[in-house]
This record gives sequence, C-alpha cells and structure tokens, in this order.
Amino acid sequence: MIQIAQYRETFIQYLDEKVVLAEPKNLYEPIVYILQLGGKRLRPVLTLMTAEIFGTSHKKALDAALAVEVFHNFSLVHDDIMDQAPLRRGKATVHEKWDINTGILSGDAMLILAYQLFENYEGSIFKALAELFSKTAIEVCEGQQYDVDFETRSDVTIPEYLKMIEYKTAVLVGAAMKMGAIIAETSEKDAAVIYDFGRFLGIAFQLQDDYLDAYGNPETFGKQVGGDIIENKKTYLYLKALENSSQEDKEKLVQLFSEKSANPAEKVATVKAIFDKAGIPEIMKNAISNYTQKAFKLLETLNVGDSEKQQLQAFGEYLMNRTV
Ligand code: IPE
Ligand code: IPE
Ligand code: MG
Ligand code: MG
Ligand code: MG
Repeated sequence: MIQIAQYRETFIQYLDEKVVLAEPKNLYEPIVYILQLGGKRLRPVLTLMTAEIFGTSHKKALDAALAVEVFHNFSLVHDDIMDQAPLRRGKATVHEKWDINTGILSGDAMLILAYQLFENYEGSIFKALAELFSKTAIEVCEGQQYDVDFETRSDVTIPEYLKMIEYKTAVLVGAAMKMGAIIAETSEKDAAVIYDFGRFLGIAFQLQDDYLDAYGNPETFGKQVGGDIIENKKTYLYLKALENSSQEDKEKLVQLFSEKSANPAEKVATVKAIFDKAGIPEIMKNAISNYTQKAFKLLETLNVGDSEKQQLQAFGEYLMNRTV
C-alpha cells in the first residue's frame, strides 16, 4: 500500500513539473509563489489515494489532484484578501507581497488553470469531473459569502455556521475524494459514500482550523494566531462560548465581536480568556472527534477491502492530530 508521504512526494514532483513561470511575470510569479509555499497537500493526496483505493493507478489522477490543489490555492489567495490576513504558511500573503489587484487577477487565472487541467480527461470522465468541480466551486463561493456576512451579524446560529463550513471547506474535501472515484469509474454508490466521508472529514477539518486559529502555536502555525477573533468571525468557538459563559462574559463577547479593536492583541487575549473559562478547547476536541467518527461510520458501507478502509481511517486520525 502506498503511504501518505509517498503520495505527497509524487504529487509535489508533478506540481514542480507543471507549474512553471511564464510571461507576464506579474501574473505568474504570485501563482508559482503560492503553489511553492508548501502546505499540507491534503486534498491532492486524497484524490490520488482514492483512485488507488478504488483500483486505479494514482498516476491517472494526477491532473485532477493538481486541479484540486490549484483551486484550493486560488481560494486561499482570495480568502487572504477577504480576511486581511498577513501570513500564509509562515510567509507573506500574495496581496501583502504584491498588492490586492495582483491577488485578484493571479487568483482568477488559477481558477481557470484548474478547470483547464480537466481537459486531460476524455468523454464521460471529463464530463463528470467538470460537473462536480463547477458545483463545488460555486458552493465554496457561497460558503465564503456566508463567512463574510457572519462577521457583521450578531444572531448567527450553530446550524448556520455548520452549513457555512460545509460549503466553504468540506465540499472540496468530498469532491477531491469523489474525483478519485470518478477516475477509477467506481459505482455511483461508492462515489457518493466517499464524497460524504470526505465531507464529514472536511467539517472536522474546518472545526480544527478554527480551533488552531485561536490556540495554534504562533511559532509553527504559519498563520496569524487570533486572526478570526480580530476579524469577528462567528466560529464554533465563539458560538459555543456564548452558550457556556456567564451573562457578563456573554455580553462582553457580543460587544467585542461587533466592532474592530484598536488593540487587536488585547482583544485576542480577552476573548481567549473567556473561551478558556467556557471550556472551549474540550468542546472543540469533542466536536472534531464526533465529525471524524461520523466519517468513519460510513466506511462500513464502502465496497473496498479492510486494508483500504484502514488507510482511510488512518488519514482521518492523522488530520485530527494535526497542529498546522
Ligand atoms: C486552509 O487549508 C484553508 C481551509 C479550508 C481551512 P489547509 O490547512 O489545507 O492549507 P494548506 O494548503 O495546508 O496550507
Ligand atoms: C478558508 O477558511 C476557506 C477557503 C479558503 C475557501 P479560513 O479563512 O478559515 O482559512 P484560513 O484559516 O485563512 O486558512
Ligand atoms: Mg482565512
Ligand atoms: Mg476566510
Ligand atoms: Mg481559518
């Protein structure tokens, strides 16, 4: 069985070959920059792994894997503009290193480049990949809009939050896996199950992302710790803290998350103290574990061997324990 690290290595080699500098430099340099900044490469690894799990060589899935990673990186370039984020993978974000217009156009080009990669597939596989990709990409936009809308709302509910993260993050994880299934020409049922497996893992993944945004180690995390608090993101941490705090702390949170602070570091410290008091780290741990378990439960119905199921489970466990 091929290991996660090997899939990642194979993928990076392919990316190095395909993503090369071209003219005009101001369009392509930021594209090469963000794609070479590293990152965990989780989604492309999932595409390659899923193709193999359903009995097809991962080599056939390399273009789809690259499309998914290029799309993901496009979404990060635009997300960092929207979130006013200074840091990505420990380095300056594209709009900080260049400017906002560069981030917009290089991002647009990446979205097109991602679509173009599907042209390397024939007939019904091409059609299925393109359809899935379009549906997913529009859902990501919807999720991103909810995320931004929630910044200025004070009545966001947990179901609304869950729908938002499902759209902005989880559907792409599901799609990355379903693409492997499409390329392997597996049954509709298995393709649907693996999509849902990825979707549940994706929800757990975004919960973990939100947790790390507040509690990550600034030395290793690679993004600005506390960025979501500074931007008034109505995350699961915030919504659960409202449920689990004294009236006084609750009012303080609502107030803090309704305005931009002149002293962001102080705001982050105050909010995290309230989160701690409300038991947020434990609540997050349980929620992440619950969604991961929901994903694992689906494996029972999947039509693959035990060692393949174990590999999928190992990936889920690896995700749950990440610190970046
Ligand atoms: C960050 O994704 C954006 C989210 C959807 C949470 P990753 O944490 O996968 O980012 P990289 O690619 O590894 O940097
Ligand atoms: C990003 O969510 C989701 C997409 C990019 C579509 P976040 O805004 O939480 O991602 P990070 O934390 O900046 O990586
Ligand atoms: Mg962001
Ligand atoms: Mg965002
Ligand atoms: Mg985040």
